[in-house]
Amino acid sequence: MNITVINGSEKHGITYNIKEMFLEPFRQTATITEFYLPKDCPNFCIGCTTCFTKDAILCKDADYIQKIEKSLLQADLIVFASPAYVMHTTGALKNLLDHFGYRWMPHRPAKEMFTKRAVILTQCLGAGAKSTAKDIRDSLSWWGISKIKVFTAKLMQDIVWDNLSEKKRNSITKNIKRLSKKFKKIDYSKPTKTRTITKIKFNICRIIQKSIRAKNIESADCKYWEQNGWLKNNRPWKRIK
Ligand SMILES: Cc1cc2nc3c(=O)[nH]c(=O)nc-3n(C[C@H](O)[C@H](O)[C@H](O)COP(=O)(O)O)c2cc1C
Repeated sequence: MNITVINGSEKHGITYNIKEMFLEPFRQTATITEFYLPKDCPNFCIGCTTCFTKDAILCKDADYIQKIEKSLLQADLIVFASPAYVMHTTGALKNLLDHFGYRWMPHRPAKEMFTKRAVILTQCLGAGAKSTAKDIRDSLSWWGISKIKVFTAKLMQDIVWDNLSEKKRNSITKNIKRLSKKFKKIDYSKPTKTRTITKIKFNICRIIQKSIRAKNIESADCKYWEQNGWLKNNRPWKRIK
């Protein structure tokens, strides 16, 4: 099985610790590919919209983005890990999510995403872990991923692992190990079921694409939807065996 991990920070701190504990049971059996931000995607999306209007391979940062995208598409499980920075995900991770704007469902979602599983790991000192998870979840759900599990933790005492009370460390450890055990039990040879809400969102985007097509047959998004057969009877969740 393949796991792709996107780390919102390069720091080997508490988020890293939590992510390591989550991955621990998979270490012997899975192929784990990790990306650390900003190192693995150091440049900002500058809003040129080339990815939307032409092709993502023409993006000035395509070398970084395509490498990460290839790994995400091959993954059976996707893990995002980010601390809360000013109540949101790190700027480095937000930048990566901006680069993947063209993969949102109203544009050119990858069919592989509709049957994938993802886990979001976030923590904060006092407030912001949930809004951080939402930043990531918004993108993942609009990429088409149906099964998204969120893990959040509040440290409350300190931002250094060794300075946390034993009780706090034990509670975080217990909760993350429980989640990891649950995800280890999944049979990853079976794609996850696409949720009804994802199908509804897809169908709304399909109506939008049809109306855009009536005005602009040259739209890159429309051509993509047409090539995939989504404007007719094909659906991304049907294509993947
Ligand atoms: C720039 C910055 C902003 C932060 N903003 C918040 C915040 O808004 N709310 C909060 O509870 N903790 C905040 N924190 C604490 C982090 O969420 C986190 O708990 C801390 O950085 C330890 O995690 P790490 O070792 O993985 O970096 C912030 C930390 C940094 C460095």
